[in-house]
Amino acid sequence: MPPEAQQLFGENTESAARFVDLLAERGVERGVIGPREIDRLWGRHVLNSAVLAELIPAEAIVVDVGSGGGFPGVPLALARPDIEVTLLEPMARRIQWLTEVVDELGLTNVVVVRGRAEEKAIRTRLGEADIVTARAVAPLARLAEWCLPLVRAGGLLLALKGASAAEEVQRDASTVRKVGGESIDVVQCGVDVVETPTTVVVIEAGPKPKRTRSRRRRR
Ligand SMILES: C[S@@+](CC[C@H](N)C(=O)[O-])C[C@H]1O[C@@H](n2cnc3c(N)ncnc32)[C@H](O)[C@@H]1O
Repeated sequence: MPPEAQQLFGENTESAARFVDLLAERGVERGVIGPREIDRLWGRHVLNSAVLAELIPAEAIVVDVGSGGGFPGVPLALARPDIEVTLLEPMARRIQWLTEVVDELGLTNVVVVRGRAEEKAIRTRLGEADIVTARAVAPLARLAEWCLPLVRAGGLLLALKGASAAEEVQRDASTVRKVGGESIDVVQCGVDVVETPTTVVVIEAGPKPKRTRSRRRRR
């Protein structure tokens, strides 16, 4: 276990290690994660996700869109027991995996929901969160279109983007604004904590468009 784990996970460090073991054993068998990732589970996946905690306010309501094997949602929920995390994922096989992980780790601050971010029923069910996270789900413009309706005004969409961040922001900034992004920044998380900090595109959700009532036709 890397030394940063204790700093990031505190009392949940053993649970984080259990998550890594589950991924390396059952996760690889079940195709949730590739066998080549085994040696990089801590650095590239678990710590890289957990450092996002520094952007999340106390007791926030968080939705992790396209959680897949559980990133960044599961490490975040372990690092921050004060927040409530919904893992949103459309694929049945991954839903089964996530449900097992949540049960085995006894994560009382996590729920697993099957669906797609852009579905009306999902928007109605989840309402507006303080924070929406997403890693490796879609290009920035599409991600903003899908996810900003799930973020309350003044809340944040945190897109883990790595090396492509600045380029994606330049390319997609006007679309992001059109679909309700008030401000866009690129920040590094985990500087002075992990070897490779995580690059995150931070989009603040602007005020929500007012609903217009459909006019009745006069006869
Ligand atoms: C490449 S995987 C990344 C998984 C995880 N976030 C990670 O970083 O390891 C993309 C995930 O996004 C999910 N996904 C794709 N489109 C989605 C949508 N519209 N709403 C929610 N999830 C979606 C896929 O099912 C898949 O599990």
